[in-house]
Parts: sequence; C-alpha cells; structure tokens
Amino acid sequence: GSKRTLVVGSGVLVETVRDEVRGASSSYGGRLLDGDDDGSGHDGDHGADVVLGTGAAFGDDARAAAGPEAKAALDEAMAVAGSAGDREPLGREGFVVARRAGVTVVVGGDGPGLLYGMFHLLRFPELLTGPGRPAERHEPAHDLRMLDHWDNVAVHPVMGQVERGYAGGSIFYDDGEVRADLSRGEQYARLLAATGINRVAINNVNVHAREARLLTEDLGEVARIAEVFRPWSIRVHLSVNFASPIVLGGLETSDPLDEKVQAWWADAAARVYRAVPDFGGFVVKADSEGQPGPFAYGRDHADGANLLARALAPHGGVVHWRAFVYNHRQDWRDRSTDRARAAYDHFAPLDGRFEDNVIVQVKHGPMDFQVREPVSPVLAAMPRTRLAVELQVTQEYTGQQKHVCYLGPYWSEILRFRPWGAGALGSAGIAVSDLARGGLAAVSNVGDDRFWTGHPLAQANLYAFGRLAWEPELDPSAVLDEWIGLTFPGADDAVRASVHEVMDGSWRTYENYTAPMGVGFMVRPGHHYGPDVDGYEYTAWGTYHFADRDGVGVDRTRATGTGFTGQYPAPWRDIYESLAQCPDELLLFFHHVPYGHVLHSGTTVIQHIYDTHFAGFEEVERMAERWETLKGRIPDDVFARVAERLDEQLGSAREWRDRLCTYFYRKSGVPDACGRTIY
Ligand code: GCU
Repeated sequence: GSKRTLVVGSGVLVETVRDEVRGASSSYGGRLLDGDDDGSGHDGDHGADVVLGTGAAFGDDARAAAGPEAKAALDEAMAVAGSAGDREPLGREGFVVARRAGVTVVVGGDGPGLLYGMFHLLRFPELLTGPGRPAERHEPAHDLRMLDHWDNVAVHPVMGQVERGYAGGSIFYDDGEVRADLSRGEQYARLLAATGINRVAINNVNVHAREARLLTEDLGEVARIAEVFRPWSIRVHLSVNFASPIVLGGLETSDPLDEKVQAWWADAAARVYRAVPDFGGFVVKADSEGQPGPFAYGRDHADGANLLARALAPHGGVVHWRAFVYNHRQDWRDRSTDRARAAYDHFAPLDGRFEDNVIVQVKHGPMDFQVREPVSPVLAAMPRTRLAVELQVTQEYTGQQKHVCYLGPYWSEILRFRPWGAGALGSAGIAVSDLARGGLAAVSNVGDDRFWTGHPLAQANLYAFGRLAWEPELDPSAVLDEWIGLTFPGADDAVRASVHEVMDGSWRTYENYTAPMGVGFMVRPGHHYGPDVDGYEYTAWGTYHFADRDGVGVDRTRATGTGFTGQYPAPWRDIYESLAQCPDELLLFFHHVPYGHVLHSGTTVIQHIYDTHFAGFEEVERMAERWETLKGRIPDDVFARVAERLDEQLGSAREWRDRLCTYFYRKSGVPDACGRTIY
C-alpha cells in the first residue's frame, strides 16, 4: 500500500534496504522518507508507517524523524532487542519486529539483521497492517548458511558446465571465463538473501585444472563475484584443489607437513584476502572420488584440514572439509567393505584434532543423497569438532528437476532427528541441528534457466533450505505455503491449495515409485536419472542391494552384517539392529530380508514393493490432473513448463513402477496379491 517508510542507519546493507524500499515504493506506491531532509521525516501531521533501522542508529534524531506514533513500537522493539536475564543482546543477523499504534518497527542487530527483517515483512505482509502485536525476536539457529555451487568454469567433457546441474548453464561462468555480465548473479544474490543464505561457494568441489586457477590468476574475477554478493550480506568461498601447491605453485609435493607447502598456502590465503577482504574460506573434497588429498603422503584428514585452516586463520576464514570419503574402487565380490561405514571410520577417530576454524562437512546420510537414508552417524560421533550438515538441493537422485519433489519434509526430519532418542537421560532431545555447530551447507539447484531451477516448483527447495537453515524447527508444510504465497502473489486460496497439494507429499511419492525402503540407487549409472535396478550392482561404487530369488537388502547389523549399526549411539544402534524394531522405510538399508518378511504395516516386503510402486504412479497421475486445473489461473509460462515436466515425470514413474515390479516378480516368483499387470 502507500506506506511511508523511514530507514535509519548507515553502511552497505542499510543502503541495500533503502534501495529496496525506494524501488518498492515506486512500483507499489508509498514513499521512502528521507530523515535528512529537514531533520524530520514528518510530512503533514503524521510520521512514518514503517520504521526500519539498526539498533545503534536509533538516537534522538532518528526517533524524531520516525514521529511520535512510532514511539511505542520502537520502545518495545528496542527492549526486546536488548539483553535481559540470560538473554544476550540481539546478534548482528537478528531482528525484532513490533507493531503498535499503527506503526511497524524493525530493529536489526546490525545491517544483516535489518536486511533479514525487511524480507520478513515481505514474507508476512500482515505485519504491516492491522492491530498491534507483541514484538517478535528472530535470530538464526546457524551462523553459517551456505550454498555450494558445483559450477565448473570450463565446460567439463562429462559433467558439463554445472556438475549435477539441471537448470541450464552457470550464472557465474560461460565456457572458460567468469561472465562479463554478472547481472543474473546480482538477482541471485538478492534471491538468496531473501531466503536467509549468507555464504556461497562459487565453484565445484571437483576442482579441475581450469577451476584451480580461481585461487591465483583469477582473483580479480573472484573479487567481482564477491562484489555482487556483498550488498546482500553473503560471503564468497572457493573450492580448492589439495594439490594446488603442485598444480599452481610448481612445488613437488602438497604434503601438509612440508614447510614449503605451508608457506605456499599462507601466501595463497594472504593474496585472496588482499583481493577479497571479506572472503569466507575454502571448501575441500580430498581423497574422495579421485581428488588429491593428504593420504598420498601418509597423512590424515586432520593434517590436511589444519594445513588450510592455519593459512586462513589470520584472516578470519574457515575451511569446510568434506567427510565424503570412501573407497570408490571396491570389489563387488567383497562383502566385508561397506561404503556406509566409511565417513565414520575415517573421521570419528580424528575428533578433537581439528583447528577451531575447520568445519567438517558431513553428508546427511551415510551413502549419497538418496531419497531415503538414515542420518549419518558421524554427526553424533564428533563432539569436539565443528560439524556442518550437507544437503543436496539439486535433485541428483530425486528426479533431477524433471520430477516434482519438495524436499522440505525430508530435511526437516533429518534436522530434527535425535541421535540419542527423544528423552534419554543426560541427552534429552539433542537434535542433529544442534550438533551442526558449523551450520548447514547444500548443493545449489540454480542455473541460468529463466525459472532459475529448470522446474519452476524446484525453487521451493531452494527457499526451504534457506528457511530451515535459519530456523530448523519450522514446519516444512508452512514453509511451502510461504513460498507459494511469495511465488504466486495475488493467487486465490483455491490456486494456492492446489499448488500445495501437488507439492507437499511429492517427496514420499517419489520414494514410492523408486528404490524401496532405503535400499537406494537402482538408477542408471553415470547420469543417475531413471531406473536401472542392477545398474550399480556389479560395479566398484559400493552401492548394492543384493537382491536374489529369496530376498533383498543390505545386512548392516553387528550380529551378522557389516556392523554399521554399531556406529550409532543408543537407542538407534539397537533399534536399527533389530529386525523387529527397524522402521519399515529403512528396513532394506539395514537388513537383508526374505520377500515374505512381514512389515510393521502388516504387509510383506514383496507386496509393499508392488503396492508403493502402483500407488506412487497413481499419485503422479493425480498431481498432473491437479495441475491441469490451474490452467489460466497462474502465469502461462509457469503453467506450461510444469505441465511439460509432469508429463515426463509420469512417463518416468511408469518406467520405474514397471521395471521395479517386473524385476522383483521375476526374482521372487511371488505374484501381486492384487493381480495388477506385471510384465
Ligand atoms: C555424488 C555426485 C558427484 C559429486 C559427489 C560429491 O557422488 O554424483 O557428482 O561429485 O557426490 O558430493 O562430491
């Protein structure tokens, strides 16, 4: 509406907020009051309707400019922003919103908080109208809320411009160079700030020769990218190659204990900070899937991570050291090696050895971003290490942005999971999110596609990641509604309800028609799209399901299997170990069972496979029908793009259903109790 908004404070981020208010006022009506005009924002007989400012900026002048009507809200907001009892004063990224006497006030802890407070008002416009409401104080649960881009500078012969990217090219690079025009990056930075993200790693964790040079000769280009993110309170990080001293520095070694290597990294870090004073730090994939690392020198991951941490420490940077380390040259004949065990076996013994500015970044599950995995036991095993949980927003294994798959509910389950159970004495209710003292990181799903994410509805995953990183206890279904409200402004309730309906259950739908009960993979090797039940069964990757004529699943018990269940604390080590107690949805992750095994649900494993696959396909049919009802009621281009992808999803779900059902029917010889067509 025609709000009169006063913005007080100074600095880059306050300027960003001023620009936003100015822009919104000229598009939607209203006015940015300039507190400097005559020392007063007063215009006729009333002051501001909305007052936005950093806590430190509310001196007498600012209060006078805000007008007398703002006093009540301002006093309340300032009180709630301050310390009281054991409450600390508001941090830099926090904000308070109060509304009294028809005036809405946002007080930011500092510039970042003000920026997030402004976006909060856009998300909940009801805070700008109506009666007074008690002040709300918002602060992020995690200081580090990071998106990792798997973007290559040069197009990679196999992986393309963006590894596991399903949304076109990179917004940063165009075949070999940083883009001259970064305007798309500017819009992206604004988009991310609106979700609460504050860190971005701008290149792929697999650092090839071209990308390695970002650290040296391209620093000017990195600085340009950092400039784009700075007004949105987002710091830039680089993925670096552990062998950089060799590859870039011409040394003979990258041994972390070698003094020349240490000096090379110290120098490299100093150069980065000269170019980008607010640089965030390094991301490292070492000794993983062919990337170089400390093992080559008989050193371990603490030696490797500490090398980089010491180089960054004088400048305030951090190292995100990934725990995704496993043997990808396994012999499928060897049943004693279990890839699920690898991250814990490598990292848990190193707890306590990492420098303070090392963050060990752990994939949420022990395998690799499957549609259903248990939470990684590493998260409960390293109390003296800063851990980050890594999620995958890009839908590598969850439909590649051709399928609707809203991942908010999955991430919420992961972040709320309690490794020591809900009420165990002495550890009552510690959740994964509490353990992630190094924050959350996720692989981005954004590219230069006109809808940003290929599938327009995949934007909701980007949004949900940012929101859950800020506040892990949020209800993912409510977060979905926020996104729908922001994405389809002005849509009526029926339209919103239909979009919600299409999306909210879509993760479980995807699970239904793909690999059953946590067994994972069964995808086409290489690109990972579409069904191939035995695609990885006899490969070196360690991702097996062991289906035979009698049964299916991986025995990871201590009693008879790989012992992986022993990596969990009680009660989960015993729940997962027990065939009787293991949750149905993870049964085949932990146990090898006969097809006739009866689940908690009362049905047999084989019948469950048939039922979920038929149901999953039918759910996609209903999604597509629902979507059709939106024709003409939402923008045509969005409607058409989603409709086209739902078509693909339907075909793919049919293929999954038929291949899975046929495969297991042929293996087991057990017919479907419902007599449906199995080929
Ligand atoms: C998956 C993915 C790779 C990626 C790897 C990683 O295996 O398929 O493309 O490099 O994860 O997380 O490092």
